[in-house]
Amino acid sequence: MRTPERFLLVIFGGSGDLTSRKLIPSIYSLFRQNLLPDQFGILGLGRKDFNDDSYRRHLRNGIKAVGYRRQEDEEKCNNFLKSVFYHRFDMGKDDDYPGLKKRIEETEKRQHIDGNYMFYLAVPSEYYIPITTNLARHNLHKAPDKDNWRRVIIEKPFGSDLQTAKDLNRHLSGIFNEEQVFRIDHYLGKETVQNILAFRFANGIFEPLWNQNYIHHIEITAAENSGIEDRGGYYDSAGALRDMVQNHLLQIAAIVAMEPPALFNEKAVRDEKMKVFQSFRPLTNEDTRNSVIRGQYIESRVRGKMVKSYRQEKSIPADSMTETFVAVKCYIDNWRWNGVPFFVRTGKRLPARVTEVIVHFKKTPHHLFKMIADNLIIENQLILRIQPDEGILLNFGMKMPGAGFKIKKVGMDFHYSDLAESTIPEAYERLLLDAFAGDNTLYARADAVEESWKIIDPIISAWENDPEIKLYGYPAGTWGPKEARNLFDDPSMDWRYPCKNLTGEETYCEL
Ligand SMILES: NC(=O)c1ccc[n+]([C@@H]2O[C@H](COP(=O)([O-])OP(=O)(O)OC[C@H]3O[C@@H](n4cnc5c(N)ncnc54)[C@H](OP(=O)(O)O)[C@@H]3O)[C@@H](O)[C@H]2O)c1
Repeated sequence: MRTPERFLLVIFGGSGDLTSRKLIPSIYSLFRQNLLPDQFGILGLGRKDFNDDSYRRHLRNGIKAVGYRRQEDEEKCNNFLKSVFYHRFDMGKDDDYPGLKKRIEETEKRQHIDGNYMFYLAVPSEYYIPITTNLARHNLHKAPDKDNWRRVIIEKPFGSDLQTAKDLNRHLSGIFNEEQVFRIDHYLGKETVQNILAFRFANGIFEPLWNQNYIHHIEITAAENSGIEDRGGYYDSAGALRDMVQNHLLQIAAIVAMEPPALFNEKAVRDEKMKVFQSFRPLTNEDTRNSVIRGQYIESRVRGKMVKSYRQEKSIPADSMTETFVAVKCYIDNWRWNGVPFFVRTGKRLPARVTEVIVHFKKTPHHLFKMIADNLIIENQLILRIQPDEGILLNFGMKMPGAGFKIKKVGMDFHYSDLAESTIPEAYERLLLDAFAGDNTLYARADAVEESWKIIDPIISAWENDPEIKLYGYPAGTWGPKEARNLFDDPSMDWRYPCKNLTGEETYCEL
């Protein structure tokens, strides 16, 4: 692993939710583990009326709110916060940038940083172009010599369709080299997503089975039990397809489906993922009708409490057609995956907060033994649980003790929580550390982002132009529109309805 060099991190949106809830606690955790260089500085930017002291107090609350760091001694946190500063600034005003440049240079000098700047754009996406334009205008985008660097981390959403993603890439490439641009997808920083790579490529026994000869279909579910909280304005312009599928779920699909890279480096890994995106079968308008189900939650009583409908949420128009649920059946047309459907599903206000990948293996070609109770032949499933109760479960058939040959479905499971000394780090920790070290293996490359939009664009266009495509209502607290089941050709097939526990039953789900 490369080691991070001294840096100044300048956070546009330093007064926002992402910074206090995720970024600063993650950087503090790296500091606590002595993974940061001796010299570093963090300059938070925003219009809110903080000074350095009140900003540090605000961030300390964010650090404390992250449970597992509560026992940390005050001194360590104080030492960390001594390297954090705040600058009041309006990024929409060109006149504010000379003052920002001055403050950056002062902080750099004070913290002995020597020209390495990381700009983090934790702001609404409409500011990405004005900010980077101004960075270039004030010559902040180019390091003074070859031993220093300038990098920019860009949050999602990266574009709202193929054209806007292309425009943003074109704009960025006029200012930065591709190695300077870090398009973050925090799912790629999740330990359990990286573990899919380790699971596939560090174990010899699964790879021979990982193809269309043995796999019947793949299911990827990212369910959220929460609603849209305070993000109504953003969410209504995005919807579940743009918010979750274009980025997080397609990235997971690519990791599940990619060929083994020759090396574990940024080029080789990202090239293999890119080939997967290029192999997705394009969806026609007709395919969208038949292979994509969209839904929106409606009012319902959940565990005794009324939950309002999406259209009753703050900042949502009463006639909004934005989907809060989407399920897609798609195919990857290559040698390995020919004919294997990938079922991808995400939604808000579902019964549990769960993300998992289920590899459904083909059934045995000939059934020697008795059917199990519900008349289904056992199908082996490998469940890669991304969150919560992170782990892996393999379901298979076993003989029930006693006379005859009655087969029962049983599971073999591994839970990360069983690893005595491990806590699963926050995804941002790993990603930020990589960015400080200049490693963008786990960040999305320009061409791959565009390629993933090519998969999504036809669905958006069909929804916009075909009034026949329905938006189904589903009661909050349920697993989305029942029509999502129709994506399976075989009526005996269904989605897995997971619980917060990897090995738990559906009935244990909680909202
Ligand atoms: N929150 C999350 O968990 C999360 C997860 C994934 C991605 N993201 C992405 O991260 C970005 C930020 O999200 P967030 O939740 O942190 O949003 P937020 O809480 O609304 O914060 C927005 C930030 O932008 C700043 N800002 C807005 N207009 C400004 C202006 N004209 N000049 C200077 N600063 C300005 C705000 O500062 P002032 O209010 O002080 O002006 C604030 O610091 C978004 O792109 C979002 O999609 C967030």
